[in-house]
Amino acid sequence: MSAYDFTSYYDRKRTKASKWVQMLARKPDVKEGVVPMTVADMDFMTAPEIVAALEKYPAMELLGYSRPTNDYLGAVVDFYQKEHGYQAQKEWIFTTPGVVPALASAVRTLTKPGEGVILLTPIYGPFFDVTEGQGRKAAICPMRVVNNRLEIDFACFEQLCREENNKLFLLCSPHNPSGRVWTREELTRLADICEKYQVHVASDEIHSDIVMDGHAHTVFNTVSEYAGKAILCTSAGKTFNIQALQCANVFIKDKELRDAYERDNLYAGIERANVMGMVGTAAAYRDALPWRDAVTRVIAENHKTVLDFFAPYAPRIQAMAPDASFLVWVDFSGMGVAHEEFFQFMTDCDFFVSDGNFFGPGGEKHFRLNVGLPAAKLKENLARLKQGLKERYGM
Ligand SMILES: Cc1ncc(COP(=O)(O)O)c(C=O)c1O
Repeated sequence: MSAYDFTSYYDRKRTKASKWVQMLARKPDVKEGVVPMTVADMDFMTAPEIVAALEKYPAMELLGYSRPTNDYLGAVVDFYQKEHGYQAQKEWIFTTPGVVPALASAVRTLTKPGEGVILLTPIYGPFFDVTEGQGRKAAICPMRVVNNRLEIDFACFEQLCREENNKLFLLCSPHNPSGRVWTREELTRLADICEKYQVHVASDEIHSDIVMDGHAHTVFNTVSEYAGKAILCTSAGKTFNIQALQCANVFIKDKELRDAYERDNLYAGIERANVMGMVGTAAAYRDALPWRDAVTRVIAENHKTVLDFFAPYAPRIQAMAPDASFLVWVDFSGMGVAHEEFFQFMTDCDFFVSDGNFFGPGGEKHFRLNVGLPAAKLKENLARLKQGLKERYGM
């Protein structure tokens, strides 16, 4: 029995949750009781340890500007040391309102307009936004599916690194949308290739702290001396479900690069994080690890529910087993149905998931299902899909 409540469904319409706003825009007359499984946050109530810390902060009395304190930076450094064996210094850390702004700044700092940024696809949509939206070129390295797992095509990766115009590699580790945890060997190979061609690396490790049994996250910066110079972008947002607090940490060891990065953030006016985000993050990293462990067990069960559900539909529909986090990548290419048609079908079933096309090449005829919700709600959603598959496709 968990000391925490992972079974009640909190009414997220009340909180103007993005996934609810999107669902209601797509289907305003959606049936009562239906809940979306789209945007990557969880429907569980915030860890009481974090709520207590936020309530103690005298925010209501004075909502002025704040800066990361020594105590805050200590909480972040300790967490990375204890959880990941990554020994950073407080002065390497820079706070910013989110991991996406942190990646956008890495792109501006390390590349010029027209230069290439290497992406392993499919990948979380904003990786394209921070690249192409800022006038850089996305150098696409499509991943392969081998035994229903994503694998890196190292020959393709090396070819892209060899191209003079490609200056930066944006890594997503663990990977969104598949939940793949990259092994130390894979990361070392990536780092060595980047070193050989002097390609910079920024590593988004926002999904690193909910990891399934049998897997271990490796901080990219720990795999080699060259990797130690990468821009590491992290946050407690996903793991502890506090994205609304808008606080991310960026680790940069090299002083010159750190100065350039800080200048870019200053010019963009994003050189600070929300003070409540810092309070929440410090409480998460110091006090809420039991909650993290408990939510990991709930998510592991939900993964199993989803994998068991889709197993009889293979190879027409195939779900990929995630190594980490609360997202499941599902391939429906075996259905022989057009992408849009299948999405409309799922909407008709009141089954709301993220569109695979959001993740770029490799995302067509896929969807991403967010299992960060009470098991009973997940099962209700799957039951509606099951009924729909039977009625529409005779499956
Ligand atoms: C891989 C990845 N990076 C970044 C983000 C967003 O981070 P933030 O809200 O801190 O900008 C997400 C959210 O889904 C994500 O999955």
